[in-house]
Amino acid sequence: MHGTRSSDSSIQMAKSTLSFICQNCGAAYNRWQGKCDACGEWNTLAEEDSTGNVPVSIRSKRKGRTFALESLSGKSNDAPRLSSGMTELDRVTGGGFVRGSVLLVGGDPGIGKSTLLTQATSMMARAGHRAVYISGEEAVAQVRLRAERLGLANAPVQLASETSVEDIVSTLSEGTVPRLIVIDSIQTMWTDTVESAPGTVTQVRASAQALIRFAKKTGAAIILVGHVTKDGQIAGPRVVEHMVDAVLSFEGEGSQQFRILRAVKNRFGPTDEIGVFEMTGLGLREVSNPSELFLSERDLGSPGTAVFAGIEGTRPVLVELQALVAPTTLGTPRRAVVGWDPSRLSMVLAVLEAHCGVKLSGHDVYLNVAGGLRIQEPAADLAAAAALVSSLVNAPLPTDAVYFGEISLSGAVRPVAQTSARLKEAAKLGFGRAVLPESARGDGGDASLTLNSVGGLTTLVAEIAARGTPRGNHQAQRDAEPVEKNATPARFRRDRG
Ligand code: TYD
Ligand code: MG
Repeated sequence: MHGTRSSDSSIQMAKSTLSFICQNCGAAYNRWQGKCDACGEWNTLAEEDSTGNVPVSIRSKRKGRTFALESLSGKSNDAPRLSSGMTELDRVTGGGFVRGSVLLVGGDPGIGKSTLLTQATSMMARAGHRAVYISGEEAVAQVRLRAERLGLANAPVQLASETSVEDIVSTLSEGTVPRLIVIDSIQTMWTDTVESAPGTVTQVRASAQALIRFAKKTGAAIILVGHVTKDGQIAGPRVVEHMVDAVLSFEGEGSQQFRILRAVKNRFGPTDEIGVFEMTGLGLREVSNPSELFLSERDLGSPGTAVFAGIEGTRPVLVELQALVAPTTLGTPRRAVVGWDPSRLSMVLAVLEAHCGVKLSGHDVYLNVAGGLRIQEPAADLAAAAALVSSLVNAPLPTDAVYFGEISLSGAVRPVAQTSARLKEAAKLGFGRAVLPESARGDGGDASLTLNSVGGLTTLVAEIAARGTPRGNHQAQRDAEPVEKNATPARFRRDRG
């Protein structure tokens, strides 16, 4: 009895291979439902063969791979890492492509992924390596057109427009092992080992698996291009992010020329490095000194802007923070932030309100990091606070000052790492003074800057409010009351006019 019942249930299990897979996060369900419980997205479930198993019939038909036989004498193995020939790309990968590794590059459509990778493959090919570019989205002629525009048409890149993973793997298994293979994009690839339509989670996962296996086996480095959904996730294959060795995200503001390549995950390198590029008529130009770029369009002398001396990875980067604090017409004032952590902004606002007497509950607050950079360091607190107060009291900050320091909940300004690197970069770009945490003063080194150390946020707020100008918004100045007593003449003038 027992035996019969258990084999019955195992037959049923084997039959039910069709299920509903969320196309956003890959969660599987037995029944269709409108909302995915795992990621909260609506209408993302699609019916698929969830197992992704390779049927036995196909497995056994696989032809053995041929490989080259070599003699004992010969040149030794190449370095495990291979420079891409683009410094900014190498910086983000951690020093070049690792043999047998698979990288996923994500980014909005039109941001420049194909351009970046066309340039990278061309560089590799020109350096004498076998570099292959497989486009599943564009015809060969279109890729050629881009290469021509980039002035790279004569680079010996091997190009094809293909979408079948089996065909790609068999083709690339012949001849010398390619050092770099670009697959543009993983969403267009399909494998006959699973039945789902191209672009579905199951197809993308199985295709990525086959390509990863190929990379590990041959030592070729593979770059997969991945599309990004509206909210910035690499579309569909969240699962692929776990399978690959590194995930790079290519970002930028549509209206601006800067592009930032950021490592989201990297098994072979740091994840805090960024590579900075500029999109030009001749493709992507590497920007080796990003500070100059981020500060190039500064609005000198206007209230609400502060220059933050930050560190991105191993490199100091100076960037402008722009704040707008304006009386609100809404019941709940707006807080909007671009390029910084919104909860960090809330914290800084709370500290300003609680410890510095700056009342912001009747104001909308907007904070923007210039140039499309995204700041993760808490060291930006002080610059953000300075920009906010400057906008509130309508007092421009000194144009030759940089700001950095972490603000604690008690209102103290805490020291941050790499003070001397920040100061050196500021001095190099012609800044004359730095507003920084008190205890960081010793690290100043030989920098030629005037150091204005602040122990608490109250001191900084008082200093800024004292600079209030005749144009000062008296409502705003009253809001910063406890610290702006010196600014009364300005208010009188304003009242009379
Ligand atoms: P592309 O690399 O096709 O983007 P993705 O592969 O991420 O979708 O880049 C498309 C955009 O880049 C397009 O709007 C035109 C612009 N572009 C330039 O400005 N200069 C260039 O030299 C090239 C090739 C593209
Ligand atoms: Mg493209």
